[in-house]
Amino acid sequence: MATDAGWGLRESYLYDRRVIAEIQRAAREGIYDIRGFGAKRKVPHFDDLLFLGASVSRYPLEGYRERCATDVVLGTRFAKRPLELAIPVTIAGMSFGALSGPAKEALGRGASEVGTSTTTGDGGMTPEEREHSTLLVYQLLPSRYGMNPDDLRRADAIEVVVGQGAKPGGGGMLLGHKISDRVAAMRNLPKGIDQRSASRHPDWTGPDDLEIKLQELREITDWQKPVFVKIGASRTYYDTQLAVKAGADVIVLDGMQGGTAATQDVFIEHAGIPTLAAIPLAVEALQELGMHRQVQLVVSGGIRTGADVAKALALGADAVSIGVAALIAMGDNAPEHDEDYRALGSAAGFYDDWQAGRDPTGISTQDADLAARFDPELGGRRLANYLRVLTLEAQTLARACGKSHVHNLEPEDLVALTIEASLMARVPLAGMQQGLLDELADRVAVRLAEQTS
Ligand SMILES: Cc1cc2nc3c(=O)[nH]c(=O)nc-3n(C[C@H](O)[C@H](O)[C@H](O)COP(=O)(O)O)c2cc1C
Repeated sequence: MATDAGWGLRESYLYDRRVIAEIQRAAREGIYDIRGFGAKRKVPHFDDLLFLGASVSRYPLEGYRERCATDVVLGTRFAKRPLELAIPVTIAGMSFGALSGPAKEALGRGASEVGTSTTTGDGGMTPEEREHSTLLVYQLLPSRYGMNPDDLRRADAIEVVVGQGAKPGGGGMLLGHKISDRVAAMRNLPKGIDQRSASRHPDWTGPDDLEIKLQELREITDWQKPVFVKIGASRTYYDTQLAVKAGADVIVLDGMQGGTAATQDVFIEHAGIPTLAAIPLAVEALQELGMHRQVQLVVSGGIRTGADVAKALALGADAVSIGVAALIAMGDNAPEHDEDYRALGSAAGFYDDWQAGRDPTGISTQDADLAARFDPELGGRRLANYLRVLTLEAQTLARACGKSHVHNLEPEDLVALTIEASLMARVPLAGMQQGLLDELADRVAVRLAEQTS
């Protein structure tokens, strides 16, 4: 019998083996596929951009002698106590429930060691997380799971979550095996039953209500704390403008590659726009309101390296935040656990198991024995090391472009490798003269107008 794709066998592009397997799975189980992680399909991303390092026409900074600053202040618009971060990388909101208690503690430890913030998530604030996070952002979510006004006051900033990049327009999920006694008590839910979070806030229905909500939060916290608004990237230009008009101090923009703990696969892969396409839309929206750099922009969704950080900043972000990469840095899906992952029907490096709650590294689980395998001190140190590397890499690129602060990076320092990336990021194609693509686009527009007139 012929095996695999030997000569003579012709696999269909439309119905490849993965598509066939998914149709068969759906037919067997009668329920959509639920998984964690972010989009696995290839979309234009930061890898499609390159920096134009200094040469004759530009002057680089000396790596070991000249300073390239990395500090960032979030929430300068209204808050009396904005967040002062030493590095432009923060930890994104990830729920206690999706993650174990020790994992949340490690996120706080790692972020604090390098002078940055971490964020709570759907499900509320844990005491360990508060204790080990110098700067902690408190999420206010549509689900209101774990919502506690005292915790709100204990936080250093508030993040109103309107949406996530992995599922703009949808709510999260937490499957029953992760609803332990503690998670159930914090969320006011029955133990062991699958939970689907709301996809919109119950007490507001649009931008006007959002404005009232933000005012309310400022009053509760005496105008001390910055109020962030997190949006999933879709109609980013309008969403950003409306969030700014509603009074946001900071916009958190999460692109379609953004991670999630558990969501329908169809949602992760087919809703939202790529991070690369979303940033220029948000920057344009802020610039038009005269608010770029007054309302800070934090970008997330597929940030893995210092190059990604530097490119996001060059496109106009003030900071980035990371989810999946932070968990990988702490040891999630480590190859030494491959056998355990295979027993779950996955394999190390595939991230197909987060929703299942049996993570052998003890990170994305509520099982007490598994969670005990994870050492929050070691995890925190690894995360701090990784955050240092991201920052050093971003500084290296900024210096090569002659910048004394990573915020001085600009679109002018970038070129694109593909036409798609060029159009989305609004930077020239490598090797092409500035403006040539615009000229071509203008000519096409004129031709089209002639044809239709
Ligand atoms: C395990 C996990 C849990 C998450 N939980 C939440 C959450 O509770 N609230 C939220 O707004 N976003 C949540 N997210 C999304 C992150 O805040 C962030 O938007 C996303 O992870 C950024 O993309 P990245 O993972 O590619 O860095 C979660 C992501 C992961 C990976």
